[in-house]
Amino acid sequence: MPTKTNEPILSLRGIHAGYGDTQILNDISLEVEKGERLAIVGRNGVGKSTLLNTIMGLTDMHSGSIEFRGDALHSLPSHKRALSGLGLVPQTRDIFATLSVEENLLAGLKGNGGIEQGFAMFPRLKERRKNSGAQLSGGEQQMLSIARTLMGKPELLMLDEPMEGLAPVICDMLMDVLEQLAADGAHTIILVEQHTELALQFSDRMMILDGGEIVFLGATDEVQANPQILERHVGLGLTET
Ligand SMILES: Nc1ncnc2c1ncn2[C@@H]1O[C@H](COP(=O)(O)OP(=O)(O)OP(=O)(O)O)[C@@H](O)[C@H]1O
Ligand SMILES: [Mg+2]
Repeated sequence: MPTKTNEPILSLRGIHAGYGDTQILNDISLEVEKGERLAIVGRNGVGKSTLLNTIMGLTDMHSGSIEFRGDALHSLPSHKRALSGLGLVPQTRDIFATLSVEENLLAGLKGNGGIEQGFAMFPRLKERRKNSGAQLSGGEQQMLSIARTLMGKPELLMLDEPMEGLAPVICDMLMDVLEQLAADGAHTIILVEQHTELALQFSDRMMILDGGEIVFLGATDEVQANPQILERHVGLGLTET
């Protein structure tokens, strides 16, 4: 079982948020413990990305509060949230298409440290260090997007459907990387994942969103013992890659 303590690193209270006046998230409250692995699942369009983007400061928050390590985050712009230890790998694979792999990683660095850690984690990126972002395969772009976020040494790492559209062998490799990151207890990980089987394997807890609301939040073991929870709220049983 993963290492974790009882200290909340992230607290969301009564969040209502969306885009402009349009409200997508309705009254989201959540505490995430340091070292925890939380999976978020739900049908398309229920607000999973909007929730991660709201934590990162990329949406319009109408009410509620966000605290990270006890500090209020909700009035800080996104780049300051990144500096304080939040990292988001967005669903859209946020890389610079015209910059090389090396330059993309350098752009993700905050403070000291080098890009070698990214290459150690993804040797394939080292082989392609001089190639531009646009010349990479989908899987390599995803590796670069994750590695770039990791250059900022986030304590809280949020990943938005990182396995989407990737071959099973690449998914397995990415899962291994997430396992390594989670194993040391230094990273708290929130994973949005459509593949419920992968989400269950990886997480300690699962949140299910529907219509912008939390419809289930509980231990992964509970979901595993009662797969009808997924059937009821996600409309399907366990899905494998
Ligand atoms: N930039 C935006 N401006 C306006 N509405 C948006 C924007 N992004 C998303 N939405 C709307 O917000 C709702 C929630 O979208 P969101 O992307 O959070 O869903 P999701 O659960 O991540 O879905 P998926 O599984 O397809 O990624 C949808 O109705 C979507 O159309
Ligand atoms: Mg999404």
